[in-house]
Amino acid sequence: MRRRLAHDFGKVSVMSVPEKIRQTASELRAAIAHHNDLYHGKDSPEISDAAFDEILRKLVELEIKYPEIVDDASPTQIIGAGTATFDPVTHRVPMTSLDNAMDVSELQAWGERAAKGLNNVAMQFACELKIDGLALSIRYENGELVQAATRGDGKVGEDVTANVRTIGVIPKKLSAKSGTKLPTVLEVRGEVYMSIAAFEKFRDAKLRENEKRVQDGKKPESVPANPRNAGAGSLRQKNAQVTATRELSFWAYQLGEVVGVPNFATHLQALEFLRSLGFPINPEVKTLSSLTEVVEFCQQWEANRHGLNYEIDGVVVKLDDLAQREQLGFTSRAPRWAIAVKFAPEERNTLLKDISVSIGRTGRATPFAVLEPVVLSGSTVSMATLHNREQVQLKDVRPGDTVVVRKAGDVIPEVVGPVLALRPKNLKAWKFPTTCVCDLKSKLVQVEGESDTRCVEPECPFQRDQRIIHFASRGAMDIEGLGEKTVFALSDKNFVTDIGDLYSLTLEKLLQLDGFAELSAKNLLTAINGSKSRPLAKLLVGLGIKNLGPAAAESLARRFGSLDAIIAATPEQLSEIDGVGEVIPKKITEWFADKTHMAIIKKFRAAGVEFGNVALSNAPQNLVGKAVVVTGTVEGFSREGAQEAITSRGGKSPGSVSAKTYALVVGAEPGVSKLSKAQELGIPIIEVAGFLKLLETGELPG
Ligand code: IVH
Repeated sequence: MRRRLAHDFGKVSVMSVPEKIRQTASELRAAIAHHNDLYHGKDSPEISDAAFDEILRKLVELEIKYPEIVDDASPTQIIGAGTATFDPVTHRVPMTSLDNAMDVSELQAWGERAAKGLNNVAMQFACELKIDGLALSIRYENGELVQAATRGDGKVGEDVTANVRTIGVIPKKLSAKSGTKLPTVLEVRGEVYMSIAAFEKFRDAKLRENEKRVQDGKKPESVPANPRNAGAGSLRQKNAQVTATRELSFWAYQLGEVVGVPNFATHLQALEFLRSLGFPINPEVKTLSSLTEVVEFCQQWEANRHGLNYEIDGVVVKLDDLAQREQLGFTSRAPRWAIAVKFAPEERNTLLKDISVSIGRTGRATPFAVLEPVVLSGSTVSMATLHNREQVQLKDVRPGDTVVVRKAGDVIPEVVGPVLALRPKNLKAWKFPTTCVCDLKSKLVQVEGESDTRCVEPECPFQRDQRIIHFASRGAMDIEGLGEKTVFALSDKNFVTDIGDLYSLTLEKLLQLDGFAELSAKNLLTAINGSKSRPLAKLLVGLGIKNLGPAAAESLARRFGSLDAIIAATPEQLSEIDGVGEVIPKKITEWFADKTHMAIIKKFRAAGVEFGNVALSNAPQNLVGKAVVVTGTVEGFSREGAQEAITSRGGKSPGSVSAKTYALVVGAEPGVSKLSKAQELGIPIIEVAGFLKLLETGELPG
């Protein structure tokens, strides 16, 4: 979360300011404005908060040194705009999320658990549409809207009161019906969303604006991919007047803190009360008395979801009886009295224009579908992976076919298969190319015993680029600003031919790349320089040795202490380490036996890359040989952070549950399939407290 920052310069002596300093300050301010706009305005940041803070810190330092360059418009001086973000709001009643049911059996399992918890008394289910928007809590005191906050992490959200006041359908002042009193406190929770019609209008206007920008020689602005992003971006505007120009809507569906409201017996009564106060209540809410009817309700809405003027991604089933809710209560992450039934991945037909092949860093050739663009789950899809040769054969998709594509939530789109009834006559089956798409036209070979086809020429520029992208990625050397686009640009100019060349890049060279101004070039050089002191395990991962993942790299770094010791080790010595097995030592020795690889090591050495940094790997090695799967967001950890906590202790953190799993860590919004698989296999399921104990002791909580 970006903090606001204002500093008081007090009295500082005045001196003349070199032009270069003014220039740097203005570049820094432009960069801050640009990243602020991406972060707050467009909800699509390009850099991490830490990198943003670093730019800001540089500007503050300059302004402290040269107070004459400060003016009221500097982002360091503007509170509530510029660098400012929204104030935090602690929810008095937490805004928990919901557990998900991905299919009928998971819904039934939830129903059975609820029935058991209520000693099998009859239940009524209040079924609501699951609106694909942004959760909001609006607080009224004595009928006045006093605060509105986003959900945030469920405990602390962001204060978006000024913006919410601009949403027409949300009452700003409540009026009591005759003979009743207004509640002292009323927190209304619901979903802010942009209707599909409003989104299309907004997007078209943005596209037209961009055409004009391009004509004027300006860079086009990003256009939100779907109503959800457009709604979220509109609500989180730093300037409420901008929010006012966007057509936002709201459905109320739940109460937060309340004081002085009537005693409702059911959820429907509470919704009725909200309706009477002027809140929009979704008209499709229905109370049903059996799960069979609930399933029908879900199926009906899944089939008709596109008939609505807003996007939904499922159905929320809640117990209607509030006393029953009380009895069931909450788990640490969600209520036991409600479940979100998620719709199956959305499917659409489109034309398969072509099948092309992409080359990965190990030379693996992956076929992918080039599609006539189609809107799927709110975003436009024009490409989809086809995985490998066998998948293409198995699916028998051919360029010219109409194919079914699908996408579940944020998941990568996939081609399900051809619509045979629509296949044109004499359409030829696709043949896997025998040569690589690169200029070297090297051979593509199907490796025996593998389903993969590979380009076997290590000089292939596609492989080379991917190796560099991997080296710079988060899990490896984490070089901020060295993404795909920059790597391609560097490679086009032949400034880098391998990962070793990164350390001899100069400002001069970077300034020759399109779109690289002095500031971004300097930032990249700083990031590359900073990567020289990464832990040995990260460096090992960055080399891209086949089969060598973060857990084995960590064990090797810990045991050998330096890259030179690993290079000198025999495969036997390497395989003595727990969890490393036999394949990895072989691949490591092969890798270092290659002259071109040793030339890279030489470049690293000359540039001063640290070969023996094991400082960050001093976590206790108490999870060696244990596979701990994580699902959902574990409080206090990012997704990568939770996995890293496991691998840095010598453990593994695979993506799915199997009989070999040591434990499943469950955070907020877990994947239900992992949960039910773990239950089925009797794998211990732990929450955050248990996870912390596991990390500390290597043992499961008793
Ligand atoms: S009730 C304690 N009802 O779904 C219950 N949530 O995955 C709180 N959502 O964060 C939520 N439509 O943003 C509820 N009719 C509905 C909903 C709904 C959409 C969202 C909400 C929540 C998320 C949970």
